[in-house]
Amino acid sequence: MKTLRKLTQLTTLTCCLSLPVGAWAGEVEVLHWWTSGGEAKSVAVLKQLLEDAGHKWQDMAVAGGGGESAMTVLKSRVVSGDPPTAAQIKGPTIQEWGDEGTLTNLNSVAKAGNWDQLLPKVVSDVMKYDGNYVATPVNVHRVNWMWANPAVFEKAGAKIPTTWEEFAVAAEKIQAAGMIPVAHGGQSWQDATTFESIVLGIGGADFFNKAFVDLDSKTLNSPTMVKSFDMLRTVQKYTDKDSPGRDWNLATAMVIKGEAGMQFMGDWAKGEFTAAGKKPGKDYVCLPAPGTAGAFTFNIDSFAMFEVRDRSAKQAQNDLARIIMEPEFQEVFNLNKGSIPARLGMSMAKFDSCAKDSSAEFVSSSKTGQLVPSMAHGMSTFSSVQGAIYDTVTAFFNSDMSSRDAARKLASAVQGAK
Ligand code: GAL
Repeated sequence: MKTLRKLTQLTTLTCCLSLPVGAWAGEVEVLHWWTSGGEAKSVAVLKQLLEDAGHKWQDMAVAGGGGESAMTVLKSRVVSGDPPTAAQIKGPTIQEWGDEGTLTNLNSVAKAGNWDQLLPKVVSDVMKYDGNYVATPVNVHRVNWMWANPAVFEKAGAKIPTTWEEFAVAAEKIQAAGMIPVAHGGQSWQDATTFESIVLGIGGADFFNKAFVDLDSKTLNSPTMVKSFDMLRTVQKYTDKDSPGRDWNLATAMVIKGEAGMQFMGDWAKGEFTAAGKKPGKDYVCLPAPGTAGAFTFNIDSFAMFEVRDRSAKQAQNDLARIIMEPEFQEVFNLNKGSIPARLGMSMAKFDSCAKDSSAEFVSSSKTGQLVPSMAHGMSTFSSVQGAIYDTVTAFFNSDMSSRDAARKLASAVQGAK
């Protein structure tokens, strides 16, 4: 943090020596969906660093976890010829925006900052369109986590589960003890987040890839997928009646307060525990979702940058891209966000045990073939296919559809969206 402070002092000095008081060198408008407590704290780090570099930050926060609403707003802005400077866009969707021809080229910043050497190839490939950098990664989130309140388990005399069979036993005990087993928000992206962890836990990494990366019809409509839907039905049975429509961070708060036993959510949930002053291993535990130890569903947040005309805006945009890749930002942002740095070679000394586990698993899962892209968070497919999967999973969650029908529908919906 000392370096961050030093950097802050230095850049403030540069800004104020060369600029009249109150004037900004340039301006960036940044579109994102980070509005929960932990998320807002994280994005504030970027705003501060950019302002320290002398630029104005125009915040364009569009609430809604998972970013569906943010993407709708972004589309209308671009269609009307008024794109923001940068937008939270990630995974294969970056390629879709690249096809539109509106993204800018960040190669000069990337070259000066040595990005090719500082990023794992699995990350840098995603940041490029046609071989050119168009986006900058801020983190690596692990999605297949389970967040549990040990006090709830203790009160219920239940064991924190490591398999989906154990989950059902523990959930039954928590319910019998008068508490809510699973904190869930009934929104399609949250249904899909839980579902993909079940698929990974029941089918394994190869099955997951065949289903959600290769989009293989036989795999999508297979007995293992039917089993996965069965387990989703079991999980749903242990959610509370108020779950429809609930935001994910409110579900996390139920675990924090001891109203619910567990939540299946990516490690942005840890940002909420951290913001509430809770400590892992004491107030809460992070464990891989049942059956997924050794596997890692990755979700990499990044900012894609749009073409800007004005010279000062271009300078501000380049500074934004540069700052995102600097160690100070990668450390402080990720301490708040619950994720781990995207940049290689960073010290994990200040990170907690969940982040250290995540960092170790990221490396080891890539060697064992168990590092898989998150379907629910737009890493494994284009958005049309992701939407088709969301629709099927949510339709199943909110009706009495049979698991067999769901698997059949999943295969045909994906086929139709490909
Ligand atoms: C994810 C995003 C995360 C997190 C989450 C909830 O898609 O990658 O950074 O914030 O949505 O909003």
